[in-house]
Amino acid sequence: MNYNFDKIIDRSGTNSIKYDFAVERGMPADTIPLWVADMDFQTAPDIIETLVEAAKHGIYGYTDTKKDYFEAVYHWYKNRFHWETKEEWIVKTPGIVFAIAMVVRALTKEDDSILIQQPVYYPFSQVILKNNRKLVNNPLIYENGGYHIDFDDFEAKIIKNKVKLFILCSPHNPVGRVWREEELTRLGDICMKYQVKVISDEIHGDFTYPENVHTVFASIKKEFLNNSVICTAPSKTFNLAGLQVSNLFVANEEMRQRICDEIERSGYSQLNTMGLIACQAAYEKGMFWLEELKTYLKGNLDFIRSFLLENIPQIKLVEPEGTYLVWLDFRDLNLNEKELENLIINKAKLWLDSGTMFGEEGSGFQRVNIACPRATLEKAFQQLASAIKE
Ligand SMILES: Cc1ncc(COP(=O)(O)O)c(C=O)c1O
Repeated sequence: MNYNFDKIIDRSGTNSIKYDFAVERGMPADTIPLWVADMDFQTAPDIIETLVEAAKHGIYGYTDTKKDYFEAVYHWYKNRFHWETKEEWIVKTPGIVFAIAMVVRALTKEDDSILIQQPVYYPFSQVILKNNRKLVNNPLIYENGGYHIDFDDFEAKIIKNKVKLFILCSPHNPVGRVWREEELTRLGDICMKYQVKVISDEIHGDFTYPENVHTVFASIKKEFLNNSVICTAPSKTFNLAGLQVSNLFVANEEMRQRICDEIERSGYSQLNTMGLIACQAAYEKGMFWLEELKTYLKGNLDFIRSFLLENIPQIKLVEPEGTYLVWLDFRDLNLNEKELENLIINKAKLWLDSGTMFGEEGSGFQRVNIACPRATLEKAFQQLASAIKE
């Protein structure tokens, strides 16, 4: 290994929302935070060096990007996902949640129905409801330890509610599914049949475990390309969330114009300078670091799997195919939500994301962020095992 992911870096005192706001957010100060999806690893050294160089320049005026930025993004998607993009498709935004809100406002009207698949990343429902759109849920089915899509319900809900937009989470946070091309094709075909536009949030696309392949939704068919907004960012992949940079791909010119107009109406123009610099450096030079990181994360997942089997078999790991988020099934403990929270927070002293945040289907589940040094995970899971034994 060229990079040391075992190194524990003290993040306290950096105003990190994960480490410095426990009490403000209603948690005991001494919980181990394994909730929000950023990583406890330093980003790739090449990215740090590029940012340091830029910081030394000392002038941080308005900036934009040129051809070399697009080329870095282009090669990343071409080399890793066999997807060839065009420069004019890119709409740069300061984050995916912001982007989803812009797309929702640009492509739908108040009271229009928008479909999501819960349990799912909770800002999806927040954005829908806060923009006075109607939330339609096509719950994922949990069977034999894994999740799958109820396609009949998907189609029926679209028809019944005259759904206008579908927000797909691919790979899926929190259940960790990396959707197969066949599954995406079925979803996309149904959307085409009823003229439902698709936002495909692919922010976790770089994180797949061996033998799982992420397929860019728009790469499947030309019709899908013309009917979708693909949301990508280097933020999860390279731990750059605080630099706020994301790239949407919108091939359909009319849709793109409406989205750009909405962004303009909101008063937003150029992105954060450092974010753009980091994004380009990441896609140009971050590949080897990412491969080692993925190997390390697989080791973390292997650790959790065997730890649970040996020490707390009542807790079931929902085997993830991708993402660095792990979805644990606590239902065999027979605790109600309050008792489960008490066990996790007050007894095990862990700060996780409670399953119900992702929709009522998440009741009895917890989401754990495993992107931290192994020693942190070992400590956290020891604390969990001791709390349960008590
Ligand atoms: C599916 C998904 N989309 C978007 C985000 C956040 O993106 P951003 O910070 O760019 O708004 C996350 C963060 O965890 C996520 O899991």
